[in-house]
Amino acid sequence: MMFRATSPFSMPRVSRLGYQVAFACSLAFSSIGCGTGPQAEFKYRDTTDDLIGDANKSVKKTLDDAFGTPSKLVAWERFPVAYGGIKGTVSATERSSTAFTVTLEGDAVKVANGAPVLWLTGSRAGDKSANDTVAGFNAGSHQLSVSAAGEPPATGDRFVIGFGEDLQLGRAVYMKNCLHCHGVSGDGAGPTGRYLNPKPRDYRNGQFKFTSTKSGEKATRDDLHRLVKYGIPGTYMPSFLLLGDHETTAVVEYVRWLAIRGEFEKRLVAELASDYAVTSIADSVNKSESAYKEKLKNKEKGDDKPEKPVSLNGAKKAAATAFAKFEKDKELEAAIDETANLLAEAWSRAEELETVVVPGIQRVADTPESRERGRLLYLSDKTKCYTCHGVTGRGDGGATEDFWPKPGTNEKFLDRGLHDEWGNLLKPRNLTLGQYRGGRRPVDLFRRMYAGIKGTPMPAFGGTALKDAELWDLVNYVMSLPYQKSPSSTAHTGDVAKIEEKPAH
Ligand code: HEC
Ligand code: HEC
Repeated sequence: MMFRATSPFSMPRVSRLGYQVAFACSLAFSSIGCGTGPQAEFKYRDTTDDLIGDANKSVKKTLDDAFGTPSKLVAWERFPVAYGGIKGTVSATERSSTAFTVTLEGDAVKVANGAPVLWLTGSRAGDKSANDTVAGFNAGSHQLSVSAAGEPPATGDRFVIGFGEDLQLGRAVYMKNCLHCHGVSGDGAGPTGRYLNPKPRDYRNGQFKFTSTKSGEKATRDDLHRLVKYGIPGTYMPSFLLLGDHETTAVVEYVRWLAIRGEFEKRLVAELASDYAVTSIADSVNKSESAYKEKLKNKEKGDDKPEKPVSLNGAKKAAATAFAKFEKDKELEAAIDETANLLAEAWSRAEELETVVVPGIQRVADTPESRERGRLLYLSDKTKCYTCHGVTGRGDGGATEDFWPKPGTNEKFLDRGLHDEWGNLLKPRNLTLGQYRGGRRPVDLFRRMYAGIKGTPMPAFGGTALKDAELWDLVNYVMSLPYQKSPSSTAHTGDVAKIEEKPAH
């Protein structure tokens, strides 16, 4: 698929938070949801809509400014997303009446005349009226002509041509191939998504399940690339082997960008919710009303009348005043800044070598002894694998009959069984089928047990709980399960009797 950034281009806004550059949708893709219909809008979270008026407006405006809309994307340079474009540094400049020529450092590049030039450093970077475009390029001499008025840039100034091209390609690929399951906003609620089990991933938690990284870390680009390329066996997530490599790379960046947008919103709103969400304000008004009634009831003769609590309207007004001050004191800006920093760091860290789980020792030889050690570990209280996966490995352990608490609360789910972080019911894998969603190489299973399956109750055992040799014994045992003659031959009856008396967890 050929793609050129022909779209109108609004000039960078250089704020304290970094560059934000907007791209309008190319007409070529209007047929695939890049147009203006209600379908093509990013949704906001319910928790955002729950904020009181001004807080609600501010969060939405922040999101729109920093990320744009599907038909007018904004690339915020601060995040580690490969937005695309060719970067260069000026090594010499020369001015003519209508243009200046800069000599580029580095390799020759192919750039189209008319492509916008965005200055990353130097005097032109801060110039909002700068409207620089490529007027010609000589690959031999590395001379790039930029049609522009005003002061030419200085030696050493950095710029980028065609910033955002890959993000636009990613959007196009996503709209065509992913949107109907994963939704415009990446919330997993596309029109097809609602009928599927497991549900398409809601990227907006910033959480991916089948990664090569340690517990608590984001997915690497390679992880996402592999998932898109090969799909997830045993689920509706298809394999996209037919996409070109550069299309897969671009859609992965778009998915990362949607995940960043979603988690940015989630975290920012969480930061504001206790003071500025309607439900939490109503909650505290209710509490003070009950306390007031209680006091009235217990009032003895001669006691002072208890003070009447503020009404809901009064409390909302007070919150609105407090929010205006929060904004004026630049505390909102600080919260935005911190949230962006946290996400930029987390996604950058995922690409660092030490974040990836690498077994400290080679795979332990797959012998009957190793499998037996694995079996005993599997049935032990050290791992409790059997409580979820069942004694015979069929995914029917006692824990699937329990009522589980919702993450981060004391409340329990209404239905029995395990749930993921997105609130969906989730079965532990039936290990006798030999179907692994996160890859079937021994090292994939090692990583699954080392770091767990993120966003699900499948725990991380690596690092402290189990040694690498023990994890390999478990890998050898688990991989042997599909080949057992009958499930009962894996579970020696003695173990079953002993185990089933124990509480599930
Ligand atoms: C037919 C529906 C469908 C389509 C189309 C689809 N997906 Fe998925 N996708 C899913 C489902 C279902 C899951 C969740 C599987 C699970 O939880 O085990 C998923 C999960 C994912 C994950 C998360 C993997 C993880 O480790 O958490 C990524 C990333 C992803 N899809 C990307 C894409 C991209 C990119 C496209 C388009 C090129 C796409 N999907 C198209 C259904 C779909
Ligand atoms: C608290 C429950 C729980 C415990 C304990 C548990 N698991 Fe899991 N396990 C799960 C769930 C749930 C899944 C499926 C997650 C998903 O795909 O969304 C899973 C998935 C798996 C998978 C499939 C990986 C893949 O790529 O598809 C393997 C293998 C596995 N577990 C092995 C183990 C082993 C070995 C142990 C003990 C060392 C263990 N589990 C302990 C709940 C558990």
